[in-house]
Amino acid sequence: MYDLLPHNSLETVALVAGASGGLGGEIAKELSKVGFHVALHCQNNPAAAETLAGTIEHGRVFIADVSSAESVKRMIEGVEQWKGRLDLIVNSAGVTHEALIVKTTVADFDNVINTNLKGAFNLIKFGAALMKKGSGGQIINISSYTAFKGSSGLAAYAASKAALSGLSLSAARELAGDCIRVNVVLPGFMLTRMGLESSVQARKTAVSENLLCRYGNPHSVARFIAQLAENKDITGQVFNLDGRPL
Ligand SMILES: NC(=O)c1ccc[n+]([C@@H]2O[C@H](COP(=O)([O-])OP(=O)(O)OC[C@H]3O[C@@H](n4cnc5c(N)ncnc54)[C@H](OP(=O)(O)O)[C@@H]3O)[C@@H](O)[C@H]2O)c1
Repeated sequence: MYDLLPHNSLETVALVAGASGGLGGEIAKELSKVGFHVALHCQNNPAAAETLAGTIEHGRVFIADVSSAESVKRMIEGVEQWKGRLDLIVNSAGVTHEALIVKTTVADFDNVINTNLKGAFNLIKFGAALMKKGSGGQIINISSYTAFKGSSGLAAYAASKAALSGLSLSAARELAGDCIRVNVVLPGFMLTRMGLESSVQARKTAVSENLLCRYGNPHSVARFIAQLAENKDITGQVFNLDGRPL
């Protein structure tokens, strides 16, 4: 089987979940530059997504809570009504909660798992169903170094991202027959809203453990994702873009 549609066809459609965020916004801009029409997803920050939509050629804002299956289903239906197809999902929606396990409430734990893991499940479930109506596509989930190494004070986040790898690698196996690739990208520690809300200690540790002694760069992650989006031969892979070796 072969995907006959060129990646940069003007009709090629990407959904960036978390486009209102620091990393998602950069990814949306890069995908627009390489020719995708981009569905810009946000939750509580539609103003950021609307501003972004004003700067790219073919973009539309969609609002959804990724932790809600009903909300994600409605968003995917909205994308289908908008363009009739979906070729790429980049899932950059996520939350963290910095606290020791004994100080993490069950509600805090659930919120992180429901957003980072169940959210990814919802996007794969409803997004893949629309991709199957076309000629396949790709799903790229954003995970973290923490998923592989753990981190004191980030147990809920690390657990959600570790499970995201299992979900993504299983989805790669299930969906390959439908020409849907599923890959995982691990950015380094970035000074986005999430990074800036981290403790000073967490930031210092991230830089000191980085062999290049610096923060991750959302633009370089976005460039990598735009290149991965073009590649029809890669699936079931985890790409570490963090200067901290796994
Ligand atoms: N920053 C880092 O150092 C770092 C490192 C490794 C991996 N990551 C991962 O990279 C991804 C992007 O993070 P970022 O750094 O860009 O953080 P960010 O600027 O805080 O953006 C987070 C995004 O997630 C969305 N979001 C949060 N909860 C949601 C929900 N329930 N439903 C729908 N959308 C929701 C936010 O939407 P609204 O603002 O519209 O509510 C926002 O667009 C996350 O998966 C994060 O775990 C980040």
